[in-house]
Amino acid sequence: MCGISGYIGHRDAIDIAITILQGQEYRGYDSAGLAAIVDGKLCKKKEVGKVAVLKESLELEKWQSQISIAHTRWATHGKPSLANAHPHHDHTHQCLLVHNGIIENYEVLQKELISLGISFNSQTDTEVISQLVGVCYQGNLLEAVQKAVSRLEGAFAIAVMHAAHPDEIILATKESPLCVGRGQQEMFIASDPGAFVRYTRGVVYLHSCELARVTKQGLEVFCTQLKPKQKTIQTLGLEASDVSKGQYPHYMLKEIYEQERSVKHAMLSHCDDAQGSALFEELDLDHLNIERSIILACGTSYHAGLVAAQMLEEWTRLPVRVEVASEFRYRPSIVEPNTLVIAISQSGETADTLAALRALKHKCCYSIGLCNVQNSTLTREVDASVFLRAGPEIGVASTKAFTSQLVLLSLFALKLARLRGMSVQEGQSILRDIQGLPEQVKQVLLQRSHIQDIAKRYACYHNFFYLGRRYMFPAALEGALKLKEIAYINANGYAAGEMKHGPIALIHPDCPTVACMQDLVTLPKMMSNLSEVKARDGKIIAIISEGMKVELADDVIYIPQVRDELAPILTTVATQLLAYEIASLKGCEIDQPRNLAKSVTVE
Ligand code: AGP
Repeated sequence: MCGISGYIGHRDAIDIAITILQGQEYRGYDSAGLAAIVDGKLCKKKEVGKVAVLKESLELEKWQSQISIAHTRWATHGKPSLANAHPHHDHTHQCLLVHNGIIENYEVLQKELISLGISFNSQTDTEVISQLVGVCYQGNLLEAVQKAVSRLEGAFAIAVMHAAHPDEIILATKESPLCVGRGQQEMFIASDPGAFVRYTRGVVYLHSCELARVTKQGLEVFCTQLKPKQKTIQTLGLEASDVSKGQYPHYMLKEIYEQERSVKHAMLSHCDDAQGSALFEELDLDHLNIERSIILACGTSYHAGLVAAQMLEEWTRLPVRVEVASEFRYRPSIVEPNTLVIAISQSGETADTLAALRALKHKCCYSIGLCNVQNSTLTREVDASVFLRAGPEIGVASTKAFTSQLVLLSLFALKLARLRGMSVQEGQSILRDIQGLPEQVKQVLLQRSHIQDIAKRYACYHNFFYLGRRYMFPAALEGALKLKEIAYINANGYAAGEMKHGPIALIHPDCPTVACMQDLVTLPKMMSNLSEVKARDGKIIAIISEGMKVELADDVIYIPQVRDELAPILTTVATQLLAYEIASLKGCEIDQPRNLAKSVTVE
């Protein structure tokens, strides 16, 4: 995924476009570039690396401009290089554009353009768009963009400038996010509205297959046939503080510490104490005869789906399948009648999850999106959405979104369970445990210095196992993913019962094991696993409930006691801190790890 920014108005367009771009660097940071009209000339500057490198390079130019577009890239086609950095120009060098998405038919179009005598300067799919616009241009930029994008297959959000049109920026979208912030005689453009909230909270979201002409006076939105469309200006529910690190060294640490609050926010308005159930006014479940469910997700969200599946099956006796979305698309999507589909995605823009959902949504009885971003693509594709209300998650490694997903999924499972015969008393007991989570999360966070001490002893290792059973298996997967992502350590999350079927061959004094043991049902079996690890001189970090004994472990992190179904939330806060402290000791780039982007909007 990439980040787009733009500005047109009466202020310093370059400074504002760069500032908006910096607020989206989590979307990709391989290279960055900017275009502006300076003294009537269309100028561009590109740099490999982060936005800061581009900013420094631009400061030397001392350009003055009131119109600009900019881009930060996560490389898909073509490695990170100056030639592949956006913006890309057309053959006349009078048109420049930036793009987020992936053009699936770019090779066909490239051949066609080459046959017209166009020569290409990059390996990107994006350059096909800029060259197409250049070929279609006959004096009207909006019409040229409309003609060009009508040839494109795939996903795109583009911002286009032309030297002959110094007072307008043309936008076009298809399945990639783009929004416009409205100011006083100035307009702001971004992939993510949180990036311009410091300038305005009035936002217009472009939906898929829309075009727009943006001038300093405002914006006109059109359908693909250039018929005008009315759009409402919405008010962003964000403050500038939501998107700043505050006193924290990293967004990730800020977001780990926000979990006491975000876990509380996740359950607001969803608890029905009297009935021992949950409320989801945004869902229309009562008329449904749900007989099974399929959960679609990727990465951390997939791990949340695994926890939800265990809970839903245990509490409702409904069969649940959890599918890795990127794999599901190669499965025959066999959907039985009365199947509920739940798509989990923090960003709401993950291409694999969206593709899997689109394969199912017309065959299922109801589709629900569990998402953290209002107006994201996912929220427009499902029958109903439930929002995490976790606030913007900017650290590439997901933390507070995961624990908020688990809170909402447990409440959802509780609601279904109560509809399917669970007693009020049992429901009230579960609800009380859910409502006790914020304080328990706080207790785990208070263990940071203890976890820092443990991290010092283990930051030297290059390989880890994370083991767990039942509810702790997804927690093990999630803990391992965090260490992989931000500390670049080979950490394998595994079902502890699987170790004896081969992986135990890797147990060695130089390959420590993090044992996620907050599952009472499987605790005796986990103890046996620890014996097997210890017998082979493996070091052990145990994460276990207070009051439990675990002599075999070299280090222990005690967690407040909670029912098994909710234990992944508390265990994960501990594994987030462990990964963060190890990555800090290793001096890693925690908020923007190499090769990653916050949301993968390409397949
Ligand atoms: C999590 O730390 C990763 N950044 C990644 O696995 C992420 O969870 C995955 O890409 C899914 O993203 P989504 O929740 O926005 O769909």
